Amino acid sequence: MALLQTRGLTARYGDFQALFGVDMELAEGETVAVIGANGAGKTTLMRSISGLLRQAPEMVHYDGRQIGAMAADDIMEAGIAMVPEGRKLFPSLSVEENLLMGCHRRKVKGPWSLDSVYALFPILKERRHAPGTALSGGQQQMVSIGRALMSNPRVLLCDEISLGLAPVVIRDVYAAFPQIRASGASVIVVEQDIGQAMKIADRVYCMMEGRVTLSGRPGDLSREAIHDAYFGANA
Ligand SMILES: Nc1ncnc2c1ncn2[C@@H]1O[C@H](COP(=O)(O)OP(=O)(O)O)[C@@H](O)[C@H]1O
Ligand SMILES: [Mg+2]
Repeated sequence: MALLQTRGLTARYGDFQALFGVDMELAEGETVAVIGANGAGKTTLMRSISGLLRQAPEMVHYDGRQIGAMAADDIMEAGIAMVPEGRKLFPSLSVEENLLMGCHRRKVKGPWSLDSVYALFPILKERRHAPGTALSGGQQQMVSIGRALMSNPRVLLCDEISLGLAPVVIRDVYAAFPQIRASGASVIVVEQDIGQAMKIADRVYCMMEGRVTLSGRPGDLSREAIHDAYFGANA
């Protein structure tokens, strides 16, 4: 049984349909990458899982429950944490205050605390009194990931954590994922940029125009198949 699963997930913004029956699953301990071009529906998928967009109950299953219509706060309390697109730090709060915001709704014992987040990202400890806005883009992304970890989630959703970061910084941020995985979390990383996400993923889903166009283990997917699934066969 999958820990998290979407079944025929559809999503609309008014008259515009953004997702057309997405079936996806995440097993306990697994890391899955969701790749696709801008506008493919990746963020809509993440927001539907995390409750920021509410759908029919049966469209999202988690830990034996139907959560498709649950509110975001309840989903976070149940153990699904999101690193949102654009990081979304609280600008008036320090690094440490931002991190502490991550566990104010869900207080469960687990591997993640201020100490272990600082061990994962030592630069954040040095800068713990700085306002979130005084940090570099990469450091802000580390705070956003650390904040999500502070709730000791069973599922961590990461939406385009590499967006706008230099390649060397992306590598620094992604260097945290082996430890995050070792902590027991199941992870979904969403990216437009295929490289890093494919390196850490057990399985990959490719999306285009609101549908899953390809899925499988990274080693089993040819470059051509990925290209066609990402851009369309005629691109
Ligand atoms: N708030 C919104 N209102 C209307 N359309 C939206 C909204 N958010 C996203 N969309 C549309 O839904 C589609 C999927 O968007 P999104 O899920 O953000 O894709 P991605 O994250 O893969 O770039 C796009 O065509 C986008 O323009
Ligand atoms: Mg997006």
